[in-house]
Amino acid sequence: MKILVTGGCGYIGSHTCVQLIHQGYEPVIIDNLCNSKEMVLDRIQEITGQKPQFYQGDIRDKTLLKQIFSENKIDSVIHFAGLKAVGESVHKPLEYYDCNVYGSLILFEAMRDANVKKIIFSSSATVYGTQPIVPYVETMETGEPTQPYGRSKLFIEKILQDLIVAEPDWSITLLRYFNPVGAHPSGLMGEDPQGIPNNLMPYMTQVAIGKRKSLAVFGKDYETTDGTCVRDYIHVMDLADGHLAALKYNQEQTGSHIFNLGSGHGNSVLEVIAAFEDVFGKKLAWHFAPRRAGDLPAYWADANKAKELLHWETKLSLHDMVKDSWNWQRQNPKGFV
Ligand code: NAD
Ligand code: WQD
Repeated sequence: MKILVTGGCGYIGSHTCVQLIHQGYEPVIIDNLCNSKEMVLDRIQEITGQKPQFYQGDIRDKTLLKQIFSENKIDSVIHFAGLKAVGESVHKPLEYYDCNVYGSLILFEAMRDANVKKIIFSSSATVYGTQPIVPYVETMETGEPTQPYGRSKLFIEKILQDLIVAEPDWSITLLRYFNPVGAHPSGLMGEDPQGIPNNLMPYMTQVAIGKRKSLAVFGKDYETTDGTCVRDYIHVMDLADGHLAALKYNQEQTGSHIFNLGSGHGNSVLEVIAAFEDVFGKKLAWHFAPRRAGDLPAYWADANKAKELLHWETKLSLHDMVKDSWNWQRQNPKGFV
């Protein structure tokens, strides 16, 4: 069964393609490679024995989408493609809305034209906004994301929820990821940020490999157990399996469904550093720095709905996350080159 994976060369998409292949699906990828490398396809082949079909191009290219749908009998779409750097989105709002919102609209129209009406969308915990109530549960109203990236995710969720009212024969699943980290256990695939990493885990592994001097821990006086921010980190392999579970669920019913994909508990920045040092076998260079604008003190997922309905829950620990992130970085000091 063919699944169109938009953004399938990216971090989460590539790991999901591996798990799709393991489960007997045929991923068909569209990716414009604006934040990924074609080499990932060879790595997918090395791991699974199969190279996914690949169309290099943009989801805003309706002609290409039409061609893909006519050349392939696509059952469902998993829609990862988009720009994701929160800070950058503040400086480039038009680029973010164009790629994420307009791109999604073009994709949904092309799906309708091709009569493919099953979609899994990569949303984010950012749609809960700045609400101080934790854990975040799917029944909560969405909040007010404070930046264009988060708003783009919220807009796409709303578009899909309007669509299901107008056209109830669609099957729509919105997956709200918490903090994806980790890498494929083989060390062949992982997160490959371009330039200076914005996120904790890749920054940490780049300090460990000697590419950066010291990790700045943003803030030490939050109202948390040790004063540093708390997040719900989820291993990318668990996250990929969450997509498989959601795909099956989405295939079985119409309507729209929302699931948090998180572990259901949080860890502080200092706990992540301690776990990393355990695996690294040495002290990591880090220092306290002022709070980063926009960071919330603490949030994590209520993961019960996914457990009940998708029969999915995270299996891998923080130790696994740091071990696999470090393994990937160590084996690929320069990422995919
Ligand atoms: P990523 O940047 O590694 O992957 C996205 C892929 O989409 C890249 O390969 C990029 O080249 C491609 N792409 C971007 N715009 C495109 C376009 N217009 N047409 C075709 N391809 C395009 O990001 P990721 O971490 O794998 O995230 C995947 C999705 O999950 C994104 O939508 C992101 O917003 C969402 N998400 C990510 C996180 C996270 O922390 N990584 C958290 C929550 C949600
Ligand atoms: C984690 C913690 C930082 C870097 C982001 C997006 C969110 C979602 C996931 C897409 C925070 C601290 C970080 C560093 C640090 N993405 N930190 N030093 O901000 O929780 O979530 O990615 O949808 O929308 O906002 O992730 O990894 O940047 O930060 O101390 O160099 O690590 O303050 O507490 P964040 P992160």
